[in-house]
Amino acid sequence: MSKRNLVHFSHLNLTSKMLYTGVLCVLGAGYLAAMVYVYLSHAGRDGKEGLSAKDIAIAYAGSSSGTKLESALMGPMSRMLQPEENIQIVDWVRKGASKDEFDAKIGPLMANRCVVCHNDRNPHLPSFESFDGVMKVAEKDTGASVPTLVRVSHIHLFGLTFIFLSIGLVFRHAYFRREWLQGVIVITPFFCIIADIASWYLTKLNVEFAWIVIGSGGLMGTCFSIMFFVSIWQLWISRDLPADAV
Ligand code: HEC
Repeated sequence: MSKRNLVHFSHLNLTSKMLYTGVLCVLGAGYLAAMVYVYLSHAGRDGKEGLSAKDIAIAYAGSSSGTKLESALMGPMSRMLQPEENIQIVDWVRKGASKDEFDAKIGPLMANRCVVCHNDRNPHLPSFESFDGVMKVAEKDTGASVPTLVRVSHIHLFGLTFIFLSIGLVFRHAYFRREWLQGVIVITPFFCIIADIASWYLTKLNVEFAWIVIGSGGLMGTCFSIMFFVSIWQLWISRDLPADAV
């Protein structure tokens, strides 16, 4: 005896089928828009075209080589000082740009090499006469701030839950020979939401978590696509149901 007690799409009245189709279409369009948005807001952060794990890591964790001071010293300002002085400044930035070391070493060095041009009298260039002035170009890019992440997480937690609840309510009317598999497809996105959002924060501790952001996002999208296409297919296209379907 089949314990299934949910009617298949083909037994639903036309109104329910129309309602479900509307929900699927708008959710599908929303999902596509979300994918485009992810691409537009993260692609190319690492200086290379396209979306990569590095872009995601930079978005959440920031970039250690991303200060203006370092790029200037690697680029146009590299001729303004000796290579070993250049290394000293870059080292100082990478170790966290401490005030003590600035006063002892970096400040005098810059007074010597940079302040001819980078001074308080030149409004077009950042002034390096004070620690605060230097910090404006030496501040680390630390990625999205925790308050920003908290704001975006609560929106995602609530929003995605309702998206996957809605599509799951539709998809449960589909026929799957293996019901457990259908259940796995329904529940996986919920675990992915948790893993995805937790990894945003964890990427700040270890950039490898960017891979979990990508993996869980991909898995979520795969489950969404299966639910979408199977539902549309069984709603409007396939006609022949197996004998054990109810
Ligand atoms: C001969 C004048 C001159 C000297 C000396 C000089 N700079 Fe510059 N610097 C400039 C000019 C002009 C620009 C803006 C044009 C550019 O970016 O190439 C600039 C731009 C920069 C920028 C980018 C500023 C921004 O807001 O993006 C940084 C950082 C910088 N310099 C660091 C240094 C450091 C560090 C030194 C000393 C080792 C130094 N500069 C010495 C003239 C100078």
